[in-house]
Amino acid sequence: MDLNDDAVQRHQFSDRVLIKSILTRPDGGAGLAGQQVRVGGWVKTGREQGKGSFAFLEVNDGSCPANLQVIVDKDVADLGQLVPTGTCVYVEGMLKNPPEGTKQKIELRVQKVVDVGMVDPAKYPIPKTKLTLEFLRDRIPFRPRTNTIAAVARIRNALAYATHTFLQKQGFLYIHTPIITTSDCEGAGEMFQVTTLISDADKLEKELIKNPPPSEADIEAAKLVVKEKGEAVAKLKSDKAGKEAISASVTELTKAKENLARLEERSKLKPGIPQKDGKIDYTQDFFARQAFLTVSGQLQVETYACAVSNVYTFGPTFRAEHSHTSRHLAEFWMVEPEMAFSDLKDDMNCAEAYVKFMCDWLLDHCFDDMEFMAKNYDKSCINRLRMVASTPFERITYTEAVELLEVAVKEGKHFENKVEWGIDLASEHERYLTEVKFQKPVIVYNYPKGIKAFYMRLNDDLKTVAAMDVLVPKVGELIGGSQREERYDVIKSRIEDMGLPLEPYEWYLDLRRFGTVKHSGFGLGFERMILFATGIDNIRDVIPFPRYPGRADL
Ligand code: 4AD
Ligand code: MG
Repeated sequence: MDLNDDAVQRHQFSDRVLIKSILTRPDGGAGLAGQQVRVGGWVKTGREQGKGSFAFLEVNDGSCPANLQVIVDKDVADLGQLVPTGTCVYVEGMLKNPPEGTKQKIELRVQKVVDVGMVDPAKYPIPKTKLTLEFLRDRIPFRPRTNTIAAVARIRNALAYATHTFLQKQGFLYIHTPIITTSDCEGAGEMFQVTTLISDADKLEKELIKNPPPSEADIEAAKLVVKEKGEAVAKLKSDKAGKEAISASVTELTKAKENLARLEERSKLKPGIPQKDGKIDYTQDFFARQAFLTVSGQLQVETYACAVSNVYTFGPTFRAEHSHTSRHLAEFWMVEPEMAFSDLKDDMNCAEAYVKFMCDWLLDHCFDDMEFMAKNYDKSCINRLRMVASTPFERITYTEAVELLEVAVKEGKHFENKVEWGIDLASEHERYLTEVKFQKPVIVYNYPKGIKAFYMRLNDDLKTVAAMDVLVPKVGELIGGSQREERYDVIKSRIEDMGLPLEPYEWYLDLRRFGTVKHSGFGLGFERMILFATGIDNIRDVIPFPRYPGRADL
């Protein structure tokens, strides 16, 4: 055996050892007994024992779910300062094997307390150990100190890494699409506007109070000064005065003219948002036109797919929908691959392989966090990952889906929303299909054109489009995608038929005018994937800083 096998690795960029490198070894850290280490972290629970002669601290540094047991004697430090939950401790000591029969395989006997970040327990925002997720939403800056939110952060991180790994392995280029956009991808009018007109109007209003615009009389007076200075110059010239005197007089005239111009400019300033022909004048806005936060990077990423063929974007997207559901956020992250020379079937294959890859990745890289989720939130979450990773997804057309729902209704199943061909499937319908009928992920494809976006490819039946949604248990819709309409005439009339203006989409139509190509893609709601993986109920608890109607803390 290599002698170094048992040497604990110091963190490369700090003077400490990650708790993970002690506790996640196959021997639970037992083989490290006798080693001198420094660790840092936050106290989960601390208690004084032996009539105050020593303290037990459960310390966590976020590198893994497990806590390191740390023991401090009273002659090493003031124990009262160390034990409150939330205290930051940076300590040095010797790793030791605890007495037989205890659950820990290793513990740290502290010889020196390097630093302490103290906590007043009476004022600590999250003092108790068992807190509801709702309660924690009011304490966003301290949420990551809890086991649940820290585990979600590690799972989220792992899924992001898995996403890049999967797509990079397949040769996709990561393209950064804009957050500020001037075209509505989904055509649903759910965009947040980006404007400086309002703050500019506020500033101007304040400025005009402090420094009122010039009056008519001020301007007349300034005009008079210009006239006088002009006459003075003329007089000096006709008197054949010296060069210096004339040039000094011209300088004064110029100043007087500048002053008049400034006053005339200021006299035009009006408080409020600039208007033209009874409408807001966006030519005076920051971008000289209306701009919004993106609802999807798809349209922009298509410009790259139609040049370098396989691409993806992965970034925040924004929707001003007033949905107060446990599946919707106003700001969420989306992974959007886009593939040239690929049709709807390729698109479904890619989506299925990607979801399976992520499930396998979590089982391989985050098993301890998944065990935590299984224990505390959803008993079946690990089995669900295994099942999804290994079972082919069901694929049915929209028409078949509606038929199955109609059968269910006939057999007595009650849905809030009416079932008939042409409806947009509601969450209850999607969940029935994936949770009850098939009990596995289901891809529904070929939706009626009337309920889907303009960019989806029209099928030969002229009634449906080559769209697909991936539905999964716990969540319902996880992915929405389609083959794109690559035919210029067809997509142009689709935009017109939907009553959308052509002008903002001209550049998109150009992709069909010049070198058009069969292509397809999809969007995966990243937070929905985390809900599905962890079994957590509310989407607000799987994003670090949730934004939803009425709420945008920090
Ligand atoms: O189905 P959507 O609207 O599709 C698009 O935006 C396409 N442009 C994607 C593409 O083809 N490139 O959204 C994609 C996914 C949904 O399936 C859902 O998982 C998630 O994004 N999503 C939301 N997640 C959280 N909060 C919301 N308000 C969401 N709206 C959609
Ligand atoms: Mg959708």
